[in-house]
Amino acid sequence: MNDTMHSMKTLKEHFIGYVVREAVKKASKGHVPRIMDLGCGTAVYVPSLKAKFPDFEYVGVEPIAESFREAEKNLADIPKAKVHFQLGYDEIPDEIEGSFDLVFSLSVLEHIKHLDRFIALSAKYVKSGGIVVHRYDLGHALHPHSLKEKLHVMLGNKLPSVLPERQFVRYVGEPEVRSLYERYGLKPVNTTYHQMPNHKHLEKFFRTTNSAIIDDLFDWEIKHQSEFKKIETKERERLFPAVAVWGEKN
Ligand SMILES: C[S@@+](CC[C@H](N)C(=O)[O-])C[C@H]1O[C@@H](n2cnc3c(N)ncnc32)[C@H](O)[C@@H]1O
Repeated sequence: MNDTMHSMKTLKEHFIGYVVREAVKKASKGHVPRIMDLGCGTAVYVPSLKAKFPDFEYVGVEPIAESFREAEKNLADIPKAKVHFQLGYDEIPDEIEGSFDLVFSLSVLEHIKHLDRFIALSAKYVKSGGIVVHRYDLGHALHPHSLKEKLHVMLGNKLPSVLPERQFVRYVGEPEVRSLYERYGLKPVNTTYHQMPNHKHLEKFFRTTNSAIIDDLFDWEIKHQSEFKKIETKERERLFPAVAVWGEKN
């Protein structure tokens, strides 16, 4: 794959690359970094990650059968990559606790009914000194696209027990995530804010024609995080509906 093809990425793919780069940098020399992706969906982003960082082990976890099968296909030709068919609450067969350099999830927390169990699992599999990053989307809660979604968010927020796992969605507050990190031995080290709705929209126009625009947008996102943090929470979440909470295992 050449450089031009590499750089044709969405803002979210840029983010994944950024997270993996941090984990690779932090992993001890000579050790192949181990990465766990909870709620990996179809793991569609893994082949391009592998092209960029050839030497890491990837373990996905996905509870929806169709997505799991698709993930298996996407990972079929990739060495040291596999996916487990299960919820991100339960022990993962064959995987050793405290053995992952990075445990992350993308666009998952807002769909998690038992957030404490999910965060506890991520803390269990990351190694001491390793990184946990959960990046979640507030778009469903802040701008529901249908009456049904609005109703689901309302139930998810107020009466979570009535929604089945597969339809679960809610607003997630950053202080709640941080306090769960602390409860399970993860030190919250940073929170970053991403994906302005109009940037996501812009991405559609330039993704295949001028990837430099999207590369610059992502660099801009990272460069100005300290300024974004000064914005009042409600306004900041409206501007940046994707929130990533970064933690380090004690
Ligand atoms: C919006 S998708 C994101 C998929 C992928 N991470 C991505 O960014 O393309 C949310 C994923 O979370 C998974 N999910 C929902 N509840 C889960 C749970 N309790 N444990 C693990 N995964 C879950 C869903 O099956 C779905 O694949």
